[in-house]
Amino acid sequence: MNMKTDNTVWHEQLVNKEQRANIKDQRPCLLWYTGLSGSGKSTVANAVDRLLFERGCHTYLLDGDNVRHGLNGDLSFSDEDRVENIRRISEVSKLFIDAGMIVSTAFISPFAADRKMAKDLLAEGEFIEVFIDTPMTICEQRDPKGLYKKARAGEIKDFTGIDSTYDVPKQPTIHVKTAEQDIRQCAEQIIRYLLNHHYIK
Ligand code: PPS
Repeated sequence: MNMKTDNTVWHEQLVNKEQRANIKDQRPCLLWYTGLSGSGKSTVANAVDRLLFERGCHTYLLDGDNVRHGLNGDLSFSDEDRVENIRRISEVSKLFIDAGMIVSTAFISPFAADRKMAKDLLAEGEFIEVFIDTPMTICEQRDPKGLYKKARAGEIKDFTGIDSTYDVPKQPTIHVKTAEQDIRQCAEQIIRYLLNHHYIK
């Protein structure tokens, strides 16, 4: 939904993205974590964010449950509302990127088209898709919030992986397998990528 009218005008700013990033000595990017509920998105994203913080990086983390308590508190888990959820997150992330930050988002973001939309909003190389690849059987065994149990009992509808779709990323930038390595190793895999590709020093 775009309500922009002909009466709005884009203002160029006197400080640009590159200048904002240079002063922080980093290359802004968006680590877009995607994966099933209970896959470990928030846990890995938090671990990476902490390591980046300890290295002196300027970061911000947008997390699914938290954002749904505020900005996106009006949205349900229907397909239509999930699309709007990701659209708003993408736009907010773009603002943080403009501020020169290293941004992390941890949302199921089940639809490939929406993840592409997020990517297309940004400049080349700014979008890093991180697939938290945890088999559903393991997510369901972990069931940290008891949501799979409720969904199986029919108490939650439109639950991702049960009666709502998850499009598996075909070519994620970083493929993280939480069932094969611990959180520290997962986080270090992502930090290594950022170092090797000169986002951070
Ligand atoms: S989405 O699909 O990207 O819009 O979802 P997201 O904003 O990441 O929110 C996912 C968290 O909401 C809780 N929850 C549900 N998830 C999936 N399906 C349904 N129906 C649902 N209802 C509530 C759940 O705690 C998700 O958190 P994570 O961290 O992914 O487990």
